[in-house]
Amino acid sequence: MTLRIAVQSKGRLFEETMELLQEAGIKLNNKKRTLLIPAKGFPIEVLFLRDDDIPQAVATGVADIGIVGENEFVEKKEDADIIKRLGFSSCRLSLAIPKDENYKDITWFEGKKIATSYPFILKQFLKKSNITSDIHVITGSVEISPSIGLADAIFDIVSSGGTLVSNRLKEVEVVMQSEAILIANKTLSKEKQCILNDLIFRIESVQTASDKKYIMLNAPSEKLQEIIDVLPGMKSPTVTPLATDGWCSVQSVIDDKRFWEVISRLKALGAEGIIVLPIEKMIL
Ligand code: PRP
Ligand code: ZN
Repeated sequence: MTLRIAVQSKGRLFEETMELLQEAGIKLNNKKRTLLIPAKGFPIEVLFLRDDDIPQAVATGVADIGIVGENEFVEKKEDADIIKRLGFSSCRLSLAIPKDENYKDITWFEGKKIATSYPFILKQFLKKSNITSDIHVITGSVEISPSIGLADAIFDIVSSGGTLVSNRLKEVEVVMQSEAILIANKTLSKEKQCILNDLIFRIESVQTASDKKYIMLNAPSEKLQEIIDVLPGMKSPTVTPLATDGWCSVQSVIDDKRFWEVISRLKALGAEGIIVLPIEKMIL
């Protein structure tokens, strides 16, 4: 029994999806990207598809699970379960207009022509906002349509914003935030559900580890308690005495988000020889 996962064959999610699978211990037998590749050491096979085709492949059972942009999943209205938000390939879907236009509010779009590859999401948003516009569906290079007179505005993915700047456009309404998500077919067999649970467990171990750091430091014994209070580890930090009298070595795990704050407080308390290491996996 193998679980078939659909992933994007190229484009914005490809690299990070491959990285996640690799960190979860899923090695692909074949480096060449053919359509379907079995994994080594884990009962999974990877099906490479265009992002647009992933929601349907999972909904119909051509693939059991898939990794796809939330924007693509919402747009396609296919029936599958969202298992997990993956936290990478973040972007937003926004309305953008030529840079020199005067923009007060959403009424600007009344009667205007908007080019997009996401007509369903746009239609819903315009309806909610009581605006009637002319939606023009195109599948690529949406951003050039205002400059060639094909549309007055665009509705598209914005990530760094670079594409908008180089096309002399400005973002005026953010309609939806998006990131990579893991989706699954609604009727997985018991065996497949079991493999999926194992995969989720692996992904969560990678994710937990990625926002934590392992820290080792030398602490003067008289400040030990204060230093321990600054370090909210998993349970309590490991403390071992050093050969030098009055000093001990402390090891713990800290949140990457609080990294600089923690480090400066530790230094102020007299900690020395601070070493910080990335954590590859973490099982809670
Ligand atoms: C999207 C979008 C823009 C670009 C925005 O295209 O259509 O072209 O990304 O990113 P930026 O704000 O960082 O410049 P994508 O790369 O997903 O390719 P696609 O249009 O072929 O799906
Ligand atoms: Zn696409």
